[in-house]
Amino acid sequence: MAKAHQIVLGSNWGIRNIFQSLVAILTTILVVAAIYLTQEGEQWSNERNKLHSLSKCNLFSGKWVFDNESYPLYKEHQCTFMSDQLACEKFGRKDLSYQNWRWKPHQCDLPRFNATALLERLRNKRMVFVGDSLNRGQWVSMVCLVESSVPPTLKSMRTIANGSLNIFKAEEYNATIEFYWAPLLVESNSDDPVNHRVAERTVRVQAIEKHARYWTDADILVFNTFLWWRRRAMNVLWGSFGDPNGISKRVGMVRVYEMALRTWSDWLEVHIKPNKTKLFFVSMSPTHQKFVT
Ligand SMILES: *[C@@H]1O[C@H](CO)[C@@H](O)[C@H](O)[C@H]1NC(C)=O
Ligand SMILES: *[C@@H]1O[C@H](CO)[C@@H](O)[C@H](O)[C@H]1NC(C)=O
Ligand SMILES: *[C@@H]1O[C@H](CO)[C@@H](O)[C@H](O)[C@H]1NC(C)=O
Ligand SMILES: *[C@@H]1O[C@H](CO)[C@@H](O)[C@H](O)[C@H]1NC(C)=O
Ligand SMILES: *[C@@H]1O[C@H](CO)[C@@H](O)[C@H](O)[C@H]1NC(C)=O
Repeated sequence: MAKAHQIVLGSNWGIRNIFQSLVAILTTILVVAAIYLTQEGEQWSNERNKLHSLSKCNLFSGKWVFDNESYPLYKEHQCTFMSDQLACEKFGRKDLSYQNWRWKPHQCDLPRFNATALLERLRNKRMVFVGDSLNRGQWVSMVCLVESSVPPTLKSMRTIANGSLNIFKAEEYNATIEFYWAPLLVESNSDDPVNHRVAERTVRVQAIEKHARYWTDADILVFNTFLWWRRRAMNVLWGSFGDPNGISKRVGMVRVYEMALRTWSDWLEVHIKPNKTKLFFVSMSPTHQKFVT
C-alpha cells in the first residue's frame, strides 16, 4: 500500500521513479483491494473499521496461497465476455489449478471479493486499463469478476476508436471498466488492435495524445508496458507516419523505453488530477506464450 500511495497520491507523484524500479506491482486483486481501501463508500460503515486497520497493511508484501475452496471467483465458461485468447479451459488445458491462487499480504487478510461492493465503488466512474494483451487479460478478468452480479439487460459491451477502446458498462451503476490497446503506450506501428505483428517496430516516442485523449478523464488508470519493448533496438520516428519529412533513427531498447515513459509521465503530470485519478503501472511481467500480443 505504501508504494501504491506513493504512486497514486504522493505530492511529487513519483512517476519517474516507477520505471527506474521496473517492478511489476499489480494484480487485479491488488487493484481491487486498493480501491476498497482508498475510497469512501456510503453503505460501508460495517466494513469500514476493518478496512481502516487494513489501510495500514502493506498490500504489496505478501505471497500467493493455494485456495481451492473459495477460488476461482468465476468460471471461465460462465463469463459472458470471456475472450478466446484467454479461454485456456475451452481450448483444452487440463491443469486448472492456476485458478486457485489467492494473494495473501503478510500483515493482513484481504476481504473476500464482493462484486456488488466493487460496483458501488465504481458508481459514476471510469476504470480504464491501458496497454498490451497482459492488461487486456487483467481487464477481461475484472469484467468477469463483476459481470455475473449484473443482470443481462443492465450490462453492455461496445468497442469504439477503431477497435482500440473496449467498454464494459454496468448501466445501473453508470460504471465502466474499459480497455485501451496501446502496447507501447506511445504511438507505434503496432497500434492496430488486431493487425499489430509487424517485423520492424517503429515508435513515435514523443507522441501519446492520439491514445491519451481516450483516457484523460478516467478515475482509475491501470497501465502496463514492457513485453513489446523486448528488442535490441527499434526505429524511433520524429514526425508523423507517412510524412516524408519525418526523421527516423534506430535506438537501443533501454533508451527508447525510457524516452517513451518520459513522454507518458510528462503527459500524466500535465493532464491528470492527482485528487481525482488513481494510477497503477505494471512494467516487467512474465509473458503468456504461445502468443505474445
Ligand atoms: C483441494 O486441494 C486439496 C489438496 O490438493 C485436495 O485434497 C482437495 O480435495 C481439494 N478440494 C477441492 C474442493 O477441490
Ligand atoms: C457485498 O456487498 C454488498 C454491498 O456493499 C452487501 O450488501 C453484501 O452483503 C455483500 N455480500 C457479502 C457476501 O458480503
Ligand atoms: C456517469 O459517469 C460518467 C463518468 O464515467 C460521468 O461523467 C457522468 O456524469 C455520470 N452520469 C450521471 C448521470 O451521473
Ligand atoms: C479509424 O481508422 C481510419 C482508417 O485507418 C482512420 O481514417 C480514422 O481516423 C480512424 N478513426 C479513429 C477514431 O481512430
Ligand atoms: C482537485 O483539486 C483541484 C485543484 O486543486 C480543485 O479545483 C478540485 O475541486 C479538486 N477536486 C476534488 C474532487 O477534490
